[in-house]
Amino acid sequence: MDIKILHIDSNHSLLWDQLQHSGFINHSDFTSSKEEIEAKIQDYQGIVIRSRFKIDKEFLDKATNLQFIARVGAGLESIDCDYAISKNITLIAAPEGNRNAVAEHTLGMILSLFNKLNEADGEIRSGHWNRESNRGHELDGKTIGIIGYGNMGKSFANKLRGFDVEVLCYDIQDNVGDVNAKQVSLAKFQQKVDVVSLHIPWTPDTDKMVDSDFINGFVKPFWIINTSRGKNIVTADLVAAMQSGKILGAGLDVLEYEKLSFETLFKDKHTPEAFQYLLKARNVILTPHIAGWTFESHERLAQVIVDKIKAKYFGQAKVAEPEKRVTGIGGFFFKSKNPKELVAWYVKHLGLKTDDYGSTFWWKDKEGNDCSTQWSPFSDDTNYFAPSQKPFMQNFRVDDLEILLQKLSDEGVTIVGDVQTYEYGKFGWVLDNEGNKIELWEPIDKAFQ
Ligand SMILES: NC(=O)c1ccc[n+]([C@@H]2O[C@H](COP(=O)([O-])OP(=O)(O)OC[C@H]3O[C@@H](n4cnc5c(N)ncnc54)[C@H](O)[C@@H]3O)[C@@H](O)[C@H]2O)c1
Repeated sequence: MDIKILHIDSNHSLLWDQLQHSGFINHSDFTSSKEEIEAKIQDYQGIVIRSRFKIDKEFLDKATNLQFIARVGAGLESIDCDYAISKNITLIAAPEGNRNAVAEHTLGMILSLFNKLNEADGEIRSGHWNRESNRGHELDGKTIGIIGYGNMGKSFANKLRGFDVEVLCYDIQDNVGDVNAKQVSLAKFQQKVDVVSLHIPWTPDTDKMVDSDFINGFVKPFWIINTSRGKNIVTADLVAAMQSGKILGAGLDVLEYEKLSFETLFKDKHTPEAFQYLLKARNVILTPHIAGWTFESHERLAQVIVDKIKAKYFGQAKVAEPEKRVTGIGGFFFKSKNPKELVAWYVKHLGLKTDDYGSTFWWKDKEGNDCSTQWSPFSDDTNYFAPSQKPFMQNFRVDDLEILLQKLSDEGVTIVGDVQTYEYGKFGWVLDNEGNKIELWEPIDKAFQ
């Protein structure tokens, strides 16, 4: 395999090192112009970029041997995706790498606005001890509305789980709501929410989406946070709504005036009036497009990109989480002389809710998914635990049964029987070094509900 990759932006060193270790040939060019890169791009099968320039038709026409474009970031707006796909080029992005950062930043902005942390801090530093004017608001009891319930929106909703808030989401796709956010129509959304957080891509539909009409559609005055793209909001309309009191405060990590390269904002001779207002407004927090920009995401973005490039060439779908082989205890199974009587005892004395399988305990994983663990007595004469002679059998939850069984088999672990598929998931069996039987379960939990 001779896959040559051109890196045109600097990234965490693991990206380069791990790709090299896997046999890819890395070249870097962080300084040449787009035209200079175009002149040599036909030599490369892969390109790794952040935001240095747009990858347009012209560029893609010259990239005659390109097999993938990897963007070390969440979105692919700077790439002509349709044209790249028509040329059979794989597009790789890494929203998994910075979604936690964006979620924490969004929450930080809300808490900071609600508690006037920036204002109060500034006042103390200039010698003012003002308590009443810095009285805060609480999130408790409020309705938080998320527009765009994808990677970032979901991650933010997950962060809100510890707060006593109602979380609603609005999205153009159907059925994206989950346990952390209830999906509603735009009308319902605008009727109920107190805080709006934007997590949408920048598309013709979402360009200038938040304008006066949109803002006036909300029933209550509200706070707004934007960590998606600056051009999702018409800043002049936002400012007008702040002046009228319809918008109570704004946290803006992205600005309408950002250029593709983001860093030229203050070099423009003319600072728009609305921007001047934002710079002075006390109920506004501005950050320079850093919601996804943390030490942790720097590393995680690079890792996600490496994993996805490797998955493309080596077919390792789950290489991102090699160590997370089991994700929880799926069941506690044991033999009983009289399962029926035993179950009755547990119902009476420990209040278990039982069905034909025993009892199902529900819990939520880190992403907020409903998960279950089964408690099941088996009759003494069962051979379900065979070849183990023990009166119990362990069951572990796993993410990808087939991949794990392959790894275990490669490591010399005894596999018992073939994989079996039921409505509640896939099952496979192995023995530990003492002959205890372990059932591995790739669950479909909702089949029990
Ligand atoms: N500030 C930062 O540092 C930072 C970091 C990462 C991502 N982002 C931005 O966050 C945004 C969301 O990223 P993501 O990875 O979650 O994207 P995503 O594609 O995973 O999710 C976007 C969601 O928005 C929905 N959507 C699209 N058009 C819509 C519309 N008109 N109305 C309502 N919903 C609509 C989509 O159906 C999708 O569910 C992007 O703009 C991305 O560039 C910013």
